[in-house]
This record gives sequence, structure tokens and C-alpha cells, in this order.
Amino acid sequence: MPVIRFVESNGTPHTVEASVGQNLKQVALDNVVPGVIGDCGGCASCGTCHAYIDEKIVPLLPPADENEAMVLEGVPAPLTANSRLTCQIRVTAEMDGMVVRLPETQV
Ligand code: FES
Repeated sequence: MPVIRFVESNGTPHTVEASVGQNLKQVALDNVVPGVIGDCGGCASCGTCHAYIDEKIVPLLPPADENEAMVLEGVPAPLTANSRLTCQIRVTAEMDGMVVRLPETQV
């Protein structure tokens, strides 16, 4: 099982196990990780699952589609090249050990 380390904006880490194919937002919610809210249930409309994905993993992800990019533009936290909506990301075996940093605005 891939192990994923979510890191809150205050530096608190949460190391959790995920299953391949699982939705990354759901992994955070299932493990009660503060900083991922997911108000819209995962339909890429609320932006409250925004996170900064491990830069080593970003090139392996399908790029954000037009809708995800539009929602990201509306999130209150600063955007970076590795900003993604976690509800749009499926866990893969290559994600084992990845770090997902969470924005201060979602606590
Ligand atoms: S859960 Fe709402 S945009 Fe991801």
C-alpha cells in the first residue's frame, strides 16, 4: 500500500496508508487529516481540497483539466506549479512516500 505523508501548514505530519486507485481527497478525509475539507464531495467545484503535491510526483499526474484549473484560480491560498485539487487525483503505486502539503487557509 502506498504511504502518503500529508503535512499541515503548521508542519504537523500525518503519515497514512492508501490504496492504489483511491481518491487522494478521500484518503485524507478517511484519516481525519486537518486541512482537507472537500465541501463539494469531490466534484471539483469547491476548491477546499487544494494541496501542494510532491514535486517528484507532479510530472506523473494527468494535467489538471480546464475545470480544475478554473477552480484552482479561485482558492484563497497562493497557487504554485504543484497546486492541485486532491479530489481529482487517484493514488498510484508511484506515490509511495510522497509528501502532500496543505494550505493554511483550509484549517
Ligand atoms: S472536494 Fe471540492 S473541489 Fe475537491
